[in-house]
Amino acid sequence: MKIGNIEVGNLFLAPMAGVSDVGFRKVARKCGADLTYIEMINCNALRFSNPHTKKLLITEDDEKIKVVQIFGHDADAMANVCKSKELEKFDIIDINFGCPAPKIVKNGDGSALLEHLDKIAEICKKCTSATIKPITAKIRIGYKKDQNVAVMVAKICEQNGIKAITVHGRTREQMYSGTVDYETIKKVKQSVNIPVIGNGDVFDKDSYQKMLSTGVDGVMIGRAALGSPWIFDELKGNKLPNKFEIVKEHVDTLKKYYTDEELCITLRKHFLWYVKDIVDGNKYRLKLATTTSLEQSLEILKNVLI
Ligand SMILES: Cc1cc2nc3c(=O)[nH]c(=O)nc-3n(C[C@H](O)[C@H](O)[C@H](O)COP(=O)(O)O)c2cc1C
Repeated sequence: MKIGNIEVGNLFLAPMAGVSDVGFRKVARKCGADLTYIEMINCNALRFSNPHTKKLLITEDDEKIKVVQIFGHDADAMANVCKSKELEKFDIIDINFGCPAPKIVKNGDGSALLEHLDKIAEICKKCTSATIKPITAKIRIGYKKDQNVAVMVAKICEQNGIKAITVHGRTREQMYSGTVDYETIKKVKQSVNIPVIGNGDVFDKDSYQKMLSTGVDGVMIGRAALGSPWIFDELKGNKLPNKFEIVKEHVDTLKKYYTDEELCITLRKHFLWYVKDIVDGNKYRLKLATTTSLEQSLEILKNVLI
């Protein structure tokens, strides 16, 4: 599929706040992810050069197609961010119209915009006019449970220059409950001429096939990749990598950029996810949660991950 003029594969790692760090994205690509996104970046934080935000924007050279996601609600501020120096190195900019988190929604950002379609149009128009880079959008299918605006939003995005749209097949009100609305994803695909990426509840080959059967051009995976970046190789039918080597590469990549304290905080959650499928995982989770030594953590993981 092509996003603007950029040729991409069709299996993506989702942007995930607190997860999609430079190391995790790197190993996901190594394990078959065709495109990886930097987690949602607050346009205001970017304007004010927040140091934490700068860390989130770190990329490595092997990240051939660099994608960053932004969120906000002020179309002019977002357009300025799209052409800012901070985002110069990125090839694609994705706009978040889907985040359901209360702290985001209460500011009128993320999925709150699904109740203000005129705002979505304005944001898309101003952002796509601000740069020649492809701008994409990620949406949920609506805000309230009975308010399905997915097709309308997709058309608005397309009419205002958006080059691809990702659809998480749930409303904001659903958060993560209930099931993904495949029918709506299929309708979105049939309603627009830009690539559509299906998202939600892809955990294995069956759910992957189910998503592909909607006719989408690509599939994006979030939670199933937590602690299992090799899910991409699994779905592609590729030989699986040595899992411990993957964890080591994740750690070694982060070591280049993070302080010891940042490493400890960031890696602890990843380590717990890495043992989620292990028999007797609780025993290892407890050990991993209580040690502060990176070496000890790696020793534990070395013995359980193959
Ligand atoms: C921990 C976490 C953080 C997330 N952060 C973001 C984010 O920064 N931007 C975004 O568009 N979606 C975010 N999401 C939503 C995912 O990208 C994805 O749309 C959602 O998890 C559904 O896909 P899944 O069923 O494959 O997990 C996040 C999800 C999780 C679990």
